[in-house]
Amino acid sequence: MKKRFLPFLFIFSLFSNAILAQVNPREEADFNKGWKFYLGDDAQASTISFTDQNWRTLDLPHDWGIEGSFSKDHPATVGGGALPGGIGWYRKTFTVPANAKGKQIAIDFDGVYRNSEVWINGHFLGKRPNGYVAFRYDLSPYLKFGGKNIIAVKVDNSKQPNARWYTGSGIYRDVKLITTNATYVEQWGTFVTTPVVNKNAATVKMEISIKSPAKKIQQAIVKTLIYDKDGKLVASASEPVKLTGSTKLSKQIEVANPNLWSDKQPYLYTVETQILVNKVLVDSYHTSLGIRSFSFDAERGFILNGKELKIRGVCNHHDLGALGTAFNVRAAERQLEILKSMGCNALRTSHNPPAAALLDLCDKMGFIVMNESFDMWAKKKSDFDYHLDWDKWHKKDLEDQILRDRNHPSVFIWSVGNEIQEQWGTGADTVGRVITRELVGIVKDLDTTRPITTANNDINIYNNLIKSGALDIIGYNYNHDKWKDFHKTYPGKKLIATETTSALQTRGHYDNPADSVRIWPTAWDKPLLTGNADFSCSAYDNCYTPWGSSHEQTLIASEYNPAVSGIFVWTGFDYLGEPTPYEWPARSSYFGIMDLAGFPKDVYHLYKSVWTDEAVLHVFPHWNWKVGQTVDVLAYFSQADEVELYLNGISLGKKSKQGQDMKVSWKVKYASGELKAVSRKNGTVVLEKVIRTAGPAAKIMLSADRSKLAADGKDLSFITVKVMDKDGNLIPDADHSIEFKIEGVAVLAGVDNGSPISHESFKASHRKAFNGLALAIIKSGRKASTVKVVALSQGLESGVITLDIK
Ligand code: GAL
Repeated sequence: MKKRFLPFLFIFSLFSNAILAQVNPREEADFNKGWKFYLGDDAQASTISFTDQNWRTLDLPHDWGIEGSFSKDHPATVGGGALPGGIGWYRKTFTVPANAKGKQIAIDFDGVYRNSEVWINGHFLGKRPNGYVAFRYDLSPYLKFGGKNIIAVKVDNSKQPNARWYTGSGIYRDVKLITTNATYVEQWGTFVTTPVVNKNAATVKMEISIKSPAKKIQQAIVKTLIYDKDGKLVASASEPVKLTGSTKLSKQIEVANPNLWSDKQPYLYTVETQILVNKVLVDSYHTSLGIRSFSFDAERGFILNGKELKIRGVCNHHDLGALGTAFNVRAAERQLEILKSMGCNALRTSHNPPAAALLDLCDKMGFIVMNESFDMWAKKKSDFDYHLDWDKWHKKDLEDQILRDRNHPSVFIWSVGNEIQEQWGTGADTVGRVITRELVGIVKDLDTTRPITTANNDINIYNNLIKSGALDIIGYNYNHDKWKDFHKTYPGKKLIATETTSALQTRGHYDNPADSVRIWPTAWDKPLLTGNADFSCSAYDNCYTPWGSSHEQTLIASEYNPAVSGIFVWTGFDYLGEPTPYEWPARSSYFGIMDLAGFPKDVYHLYKSVWTDEAVLHVFPHWNWKVGQTVDVLAYFSQADEVELYLNGISLGKKSKQGQDMKVSWKVKYASGELKAVSRKNGTVVLEKVIRTAGPAAKIMLSADRSKLAADGKDLSFITVKVMDKDGNLIPDADHSIEFKIEGVAVLAGVDNGSPISHESFKASHRKAFNGLALAIIKSGRKASTVKVVALSQGLESGVITLDIK
């Protein structure tokens, strides 16, 4: 919001059935713009008289950690991403007009990492230790109407390590200013469920919480209006209600011939709750609605709208690579688009509540979300983690997560913990059972429509969490070889593979032979002694952790076993921190199906071949080797019976998948030239792929994921940078340093190359290529312009691309 305050925002109803243009008395204003920031502590910074003129001006969401330099000595440790934490302050000055007096004005933070403390005009509003929960403060009693107001936020992420991954630091999610009348639908004040769903009709149940001035009884009409995705009114109800300070009501409405929400067709309705007093609209509140039915079955797995559907998911941490943890809708959307394109239909928000806007995207794009709460309970995983806040905060934090997220049709499962230490404990120490029952009780008090699980690395029957008997579904982390015996261990129970795989890959690096497996390290509690000198892991799907499995093994174990309702591969994208199997200089993970820059590794195509109906043919590795060396050539393919491989025009034989195998391979004596693969079905060619030996590096090629951006200061274009020979073949080991120049109203928001060991800054104007590729992320300005991006490197023809910002 700007300094100018708009007390009555005139929102003309988009809905075609609305007869009159309506004034929406509720304003939910973006409050991200124009904050002052200081990295450091100042005891006076919460006061009104404090001068913040010399502080940096920035827009939220913001993560100061990603702006820092890598060092193994930062307190977060290498496991935490080797980036700095510390204390930071944010301040924002804003005016509120005199005529807003009597309004209800609140500030909503969607997440601040961590230990946020907030003051308005010097008055302390509160503290939230948990860095992943959303919270609201009521500002109304402390505001100067007709004057200047100052909000100050202290963020303290100095005590580290407090996580096993990179958390980021700061106000890293959206902030909104909510202005309503004194009678309004409370924060997270609706709960919409669909107790009955069939083809002909769905029953939509609404629970509504309304706040109104205490000590005053108001006669009101509460209307519930359901609109389809085109804005057409499809059902409505209206009832007189006596408002008495805090009022709760419940309503059931039928929607005829409902369009069901599914992963393939994520159909969304909107529910509008209107409060009218004396025929005047005093509040209008929108909730999105997806009508779907689902269940889990011990034998058949997951059932959505009456049909079995395998949950094919990934786990992700919340960082967005080079952007750090500062949430950006387009960056998250791009990740989801990449996942969708390989057939992924599910996401586990490991190991904490995600940004609300990520769930909005999952609603729209058709993801089945396992929404997770905690990575630890009362027993710690690292010295300064949430176990210190557990006693005081876990109930409130869990309640707030459920209240914020329970209307999202994409949310299907609550996971109340990952690899919790309280799994273990015997005799007097079976506290894990007590806490599991308590947490399940907290969730069920707020939502009985979704099953609750935990992600367990101890899958035996003595696990206290499982033994509590409170969980609806048993979550196995890893142990893919035990899935087949699940019903022997847990007769009649339901299984979900909450976390799988943990295979290790560096994009573009291949250790031959492909059929020799590297288990790195050899045991979870041993350091890796035999890794590669360049800190790489092979991308042949022949390298994984001792607790993990190859991607192919995991897929075979899940796809052929209907009792496994689904899997969540660790992870969709590489993330900052936890650089298993290496230590420093490595600083980010190797687990991703995509690297940190979002570039797919080869296994992306394995998933696509198994999880989609598209014809796939992916042959790898690159074709630049030593003459005479034996190189394994692999192909992932689908919609075909066989693949024939040719080297310089000579056939090396046809191969078909054997048994449950998901790939074919050849051992090839290397000779430079052209490797060609042809897939055929019933003798007819389906696809052809050619890889050529690359000559000397000659030019840079740029391609943008989107070349038309919105001039909103947030939109992004992800530009892939390729170092090529003169004929357009990728140089598989190119590591040229590339400089980016931008003309027009846009900024370089980040650079990356997917290398887990690069210590170059994500915020620099240059980046080395890594195995031939680099990434530049361009952020639009707030003005329409044509933006030219140039990528230069000595000795190479520059790459140029233009973006249209409107
Ligand atoms: C799991 C854990 C994840 C991550 C992963 C790495 O055990 O739940 O958070 O650490 O291992 O393989």
